[in-house]
Amino acid sequence: MLVFDQVGYYYRRGQEVVKKVSFTIEKGEFVSIVGGNGSGKSTLAKLMNGLQLAKQGSVVFDKQTASDPDQARNIRKAIGLVFQNPEDQFITTNVTDEIVFGLENIRVPADEIAARVRSALQAVGLERYADAAPHELSGGQKQRAAVAAVIAMRPRFIVFDEATSMLDPEGRNELMQLMQDFHKQGITIVQITHHMDEVLASRRVLLLDQSELVFDGPPDRFFREVPLETYGLEQPFAVRIGQQLGWSGEATADWKGRAASQWSTE
Ligand SMILES: Nc1ncnc2c1ncn2[C@@H]1O[C@H](COP(=O)(O)OP(=O)(O)OP(=O)(O)O)[C@@H](O)[C@H]1O
Ligand SMILES: [Mg+2]
Repeated sequence: MLVFDQVGYYYRRGQEVVKKVSFTIEKGEFVSIVGGNGSGKSTLAKLMNGLQLAKQGSVVFDKQTASDPDQARNIRKAIGLVFQNPEDQFITTNVTDEIVFGLENIRVPADEIAARVRSALQAVGLERYADAAPHELSGGQKQRAAVAAVIAMRPRFIVFDEATSMLDPEGRNELMQLMQDFHKQGITIVQITHHMDEVLASRRVLLLDQSELVFDGPPDRFFREVPLETYGLEQPFAVRIGQQLGWSGEATADWKGRAASQWSTE
């Protein structure tokens, strides 16, 4: 369970980029975080796993407090982060080393490493690319390698910060599918996204506006009640089509259901 209690953060004193944000994410949830550019989403992601520390309020994950350095180390181990640009995430020169690097960092015993690498590669479907260099991979494959490096650390919780945004539709679908697979295995998933279609895959939406949390609820209520344009967001594709064709709310809801089932876990 991750608990944000009245969390505040600023990079420069007097310019708060996260203001009094409170929410609880239970184990096994699948949550989307949305909001306009600069609303504080990436900062929130970094506050979640202790990469940045709250200036006000508290961040607690499974009774570990992020402001305590020893406990923060445990949080960083338990909560994996996948970022937007797969290019930026490669530190080493091949896929296997990339995974090993992360495991050595958290001091996984040497005799456990080979097995962990194998199962991580399998989880993301990159078995054949174990020795590939970054330039031999497509954008989607690079992003999956980054995900393999995270999943090998056996996180209980993964935050994807616009991880699909640089990928082509096929790469996006593959990554969304991986999120669903991990979710089914009991891993808590938080995805930050600008794609409202992807929001339909989750069960809960948090909307940030100008550093504040302004909505917390299920996607159907989010799309029904929140004036998305006000927040610089677009309706999901299926909903827009429905509106353009002048369908009733009921028909649109049906389309939303169908769009959601594309990635549905049920
Ligand atoms: N390292 C930094 N130093 C100073 N200011 C920063 C830093 N990182 C982010 N900011 C500022 O903090 C605010 C929130 O940024 P953040 O990256 O969290 O927003 P975001 O919602 O993720 O935006 P985007 O949709 O563009 O990714 C912005 O005003 C941004 O300019
Ligand atoms: Mg961001």
